Amino acid sequence: DWRSACILANCFSCRNFNLIVIYVIIMNLIFLGPPGVGKGTQANLICNKYDLLHLSTGDILRLEISRKTEIGSFAKSFIDKGELVPDETLLKMMNNRLNQDDALNGYLLDGFPRTIEQAKGLDLIMKKIDHKIECVISLLADEDELVSRLLKRGLTSGRSDESIEIIRHRQQIYWNQTSPLLNYYEDIDLLMNVNGVGEINDINNEIIKIVNQYA
Ligand code: AP5
Ligand code: MG
Repeated sequence: DWRSACILANCFSCRNFNLIVIYVIIMNLIFLGPPGVGKGTQANLICNKYDLLHLSTGDILRLEISRKTEIGSFAKSFIDKGELVPDETLLKMMNNRLNQDDALNGYLLDGFPRTIEQAKGLDLIMKKIDHKIECVISLLADEDELVSRLLKRGLTSGRSDESIEIIRHRQQIYWNQTSPLLNYYEDIDLLMNVNGVGEINDINNEIIKIVNQYA
């Protein structure tokens, strides 16, 4: 894998074999995009390939709901309506999560941040723990395509937010509350755009080309 390749490259390039220089490149990525665009699908593939921790705030919140925790019952009412869970809750949750040891070796944030407030909060968290975002990948696709993907998945997913009204509302929420992040990250030269329509493998190859520039 890329970590071992990196380590080996340094061993071989070292004239004195008593001195082995080992360094590992830590990558922290963000996937942005409207509901159904394939953030989770692509995040799974990328995290397997680069050995990154996959942090999906949607998955974390659904786990909290299934465990009937305090944060889960608070979040449920927002998720069921297709609304965003308040920034303060998300920032507290992600501050705890990113301070854990397994976040030291690189991660992919899937579905976080989703508001400018969350992005600013994330910047502060990362400054405190001395982490850095390498790249923000934005996936986009036509709304009708996304609605049809989510309706199809809703037949079997059991997710409480996959009725037609809520799916449409989630799309609106993306454009109203999350899309300002596109400018936010473009202004600091982190944004890379990828077309979210097409074969899953082709989209994955596009993302790999981008990620390889950082790995
Ligand atoms: P979350 O779970 O993050 O849902 P989402 O982003 O709204 O949408 P999905 O996760 O369903 O879509 P996805 O882009 O991951 O696509 P996927 O790969 O699954 O959030 C749920 C809720 O939690 C939010 O509404 C909010 O309430 C709360 N929440 C979460 N994070 C929050 C935050 N930061 N702040 C506040 N609240 C937060 O693919 C979808 C389907 O399409 C699948 O069936 C897949 O197989 C298929 N598919 C994927 N790629 C393709 C392709 N290329 N072609 C055809 N089909 C494809
Ligand atoms: Mg997802």
